Amino acid sequence: MNVAVIGGGPAGLYFALLLKKARPETSITVIERNRLDETFGWGVVFSDQTLENFRAADPETCDQITSSFAHWDDIDVHVHGRVITSSGHGFAGIARRRLLHILQERAARLGVSLRAQTEITDERDLPRLGLTELDLIVAANGVNSAIRTRHAAHFQPDLDARSARYIWLGTTFPFEAFTFYFVENEHGVFQAHCYRFDERTSTFIVECDERSWRHAGFDKLDLEGTVAACEQLFARWLGGHRLLANARAMSAPWSTFVRVRNQSWFHGTIVLIGDAAHTAHFSIGSGTKLAMEDAIALAREVASHRPLPEALAAYQRERMTEVLRLQNAARNSMEWFEHVRRYISMDPEQFTYSLLTRSQRVSHENLRLRDPNYLGGVERWFAAKTGDYPPPNAPPPMFTPFTLRGLTLVNRVVVAPMDMYSAVDGTPGDFHLVHLGTRALGGAGLIITEMVCVSPEARISLGCAGMYTREHLAAWRRIVDFVHAESLAKICLQLGHSGSKGSTRLPWDGGDLEPESEGWEVMGPSATRYAPSLGVPRPMDRDDMDRVGDQFVAAARLGIEAGFDMLELHCAHGYLLSSFITPLSNQRTDEYGGTLENRLRYPVEVFRAMRAVWPAERPMSVRISATDWVSGGVTDEDSLQIANAFMAAGADIIHVSTGQTSIEARPVYGRMYQTPFSDRIRNEARIPTIAVGNITDADQVNAVIAAGRADLCALARPHLVDPFWTLHAAAELGYTAQHWPRQYLTGRLQLERQLERKASSR
Ligand SMILES: Cc1cc2nc3c(=O)[nH]c(=O)nc-3n(C[C@H](O)[C@H](O)[C@H](O)COP(=O)(O)OP(=O)(O)OC[C@H]3O[C@@H](n4cnc5c(N)ncnc54)[C@H](O)[C@@H]3O)c2cc1C
Ligand SMILES: Cc1cc2nc3c(=O)[nH]c(=O)nc-3n(C[C@H](O)[C@H](O)[C@H](O)COP(=O)(O)O)c2cc1C
Repeated sequence: MNVAVIGGGPAGLYFALLLKKARPETSITVIERNRLDETFGWGVVFSDQTLENFRAADPETCDQITSSFAHWDDIDVHVHGRVITSSGHGFAGIARRRLLHILQERAARLGVSLRAQTEITDERDLPRLGLTELDLIVAANGVNSAIRTRHAAHFQPDLDARSARYIWLGTTFPFEAFTFYFVENEHGVFQAHCYRFDERTSTFIVECDERSWRHAGFDKLDLEGTVAACEQLFARWLGGHRLLANARAMSAPWSTFVRVRNQSWFHGTIVLIGDAAHTAHFSIGSGTKLAMEDAIALAREVASHRPLPEALAAYQRERMTEVLRLQNAARNSMEWFEHVRRYISMDPEQFTYSLLTRSQRVSHENLRLRDPNYLGGVERWFAAKTGDYPPPNAPPPMFTPFTLRGLTLVNRVVVAPMDMYSAVDGTPGDFHLVHLGTRALGGAGLIITEMVCVSPEARISLGCAGMYTREHLAAWRRIVDFVHAESLAKICLQLGHSGSKGSTRLPWDGGDLEPESEGWEVMGPSATRYAPSLGVPRPMDRDDMDRVGDQFVAAARLGIEAGFDMLELHCAHGYLLSSFITPLSNQRTDEYGGTLENRLRYPVEVFRAMRAVWPAERPMSVRISATDWVSGGVTDEDSLQIANAFMAAGADIIHVSTGQTSIEARPVYGRMYQTPFSDRIRNEARIPTIAVGNITDADQVNAVIAAGRADLCALARPHLVDPFWTLHAAAELGYTAQHWPRQYLTGRLQLERQLERKASSR
């Protein structure tokens, strides 16, 4: 078998040596455009886990790599004159030059031929080097892979060029921990990511957002000027040590990160590997790991005796999933660093915690495992903001109270609004009493009702609950009274109007279809239907708008009588008020259409009218779709304006959902997938938020709350399968101050004993 590898970086070299080791009869040539001792960058980091993968693949190189390592356990975060240390991170650094040297030597010893200072941008030039009858060409030529570009039609690369700037420098400062420095000055915010990788040298990557970069004049400085300015910026920590520039960075001191993805990783006999196939932002230090793990998988598949196309397909299958997972984590991390301005004014404790959990892969309990002292400190700090807890009794963040106006919730867990489609003529019945009552007994701090509709035509289906008759009022009062009498939970009424998404069958009877009888004419901002199976809405005129506004106010008044603690206006998911906000369904040409300010006008008018009657000591929230997930629709940038508009009208908290406004939407699902939208609104617009969407366990709730990504976490589907979600979470976390219904105390004892036994048998 004849193989050419274009690119002598970690991916190309490691693949070559592993394949040669597995199939010594294979002829393998690595072609590298640079000299073998010349490379960009300074050090790379590997986690302990990655090293185990390397050990399994080739113990010889692994031994050499580990014997060249600088190890550390601590992460030090320097911000606003404080340094906060968290331990247990288990990473090691090695000079990139040393790593390449180890791989080059091992490859050469195994019989791989290395051809340096040879550039190949077109595989058709390989025969000129005497490389003919090739069975496989490995494009290991890095992020700007010329081979990938040449075959773009097949690989279908997706390149996302980011705007933050970074420069990869070195220094003689001997870091003892992985260190982050943050500087906030008149120009903006600048950070350095630093770690030692050998006796004398450390990596020192400086990064900032584009605005800070321009304000500081970095766009006008050459390399020498840039290095001098960076030295000045971080002088207070460098103790006179110099920053060192890499010779290969001369042409342009600063870079921007490009996120690379490809639809396909192979085409005929050409296969992509490493940065040519994918990149992950350097802040999770995984580029080299991914490149080398690709090499392990590709070498294994190619060495197997199956036909090459099958081997390449197996390689792609295995690696693409793993890479996507890491790229998701890397995206969260990258976005955190791109938006440090958003977090920099947090208390150093919260700032550091937010930094450590930024990728959403390191969780609250994971931090406890790594460093219980550090996490205990975070919990004490967080709890102290909400009350007096004599040590060591600080509750986990999710069990701290939260106050809005005159309402104090006992914890941060919310039962999200969920339509049960089980009302009769709008009246909630025994099902609702048992359903909501059980969830109140289950320990959540706040229960939000399903969307309760303000008129018969405001319902989605005939099964939707309403608040437009005295009968509804009485039925709701029964539920509210039960919640208040039997639990510590508070209960919030969500009011809404289905608009053009109304007049459908029950979900279990074909929810997106119009009913065969008893349907009604639907209304909306414009005559744009939500889905082909639903009716075309009648555009609302002034009378319609006034009438519906009055219905919302009347329902709010009934909500006061029923004793609800809080009121939420449903302005999300494409229902009436949401359909005014999104341009996808609002094509009006009057003052209620056009700009976002205009599109917000009617929902805000309705909100104001309700706020005017709703008691001043009771809070109000607004549920919004922070993005439509459709190009041309509402974006997360717009969500700031939307949130601000409702806050200016007297809202106390924004409940941040997304989408469901168009059937064209392409949401990016994943765990906690809507939390970044809450984070942005909370930390950029400085507005309290409720996060919701695929938040499933207590660990996640603690992390979201402690990191300040939201003030409250709402869980919908998890509460459908476990009404006692909060009680279970308290028992699992060993939080003994949790209130349990007295009728259930023997169950509590048994559960706690079982959990103790499980823990001690581990
Ligand atoms: C600032 C920064 C910090 C980083 N920090 C880390 C870290 O801490 N840990 C980590 O794991 N990763 C880190 N990375 C990522 C890491 O550098 C890459 O992910 C890794 O090098 C990918 O390996 P590769 O072999 O695919 O590509 P590369 O290392 O880029 O190697 C590609 C090789 O191909 C050669 N080549 C390119 N074109 C041609 C051509 N036409 N002909 C011949 N040869 C060619 C190049 O000269 C190069 O030697 C960082 C990256 C950056 C930018
Ligand atoms: C059965 C069901 C009914 C729902 N009804 C409503 C509703 O009436 N009002 C609302 O704002 N959201 C409603 N939602 C959306 C949820 O409140 C929540 O935003 C969504 O399910 C994502 O959260 P989860 O991942 O915790 O389930 C409903 C969700 C489900 C599963």
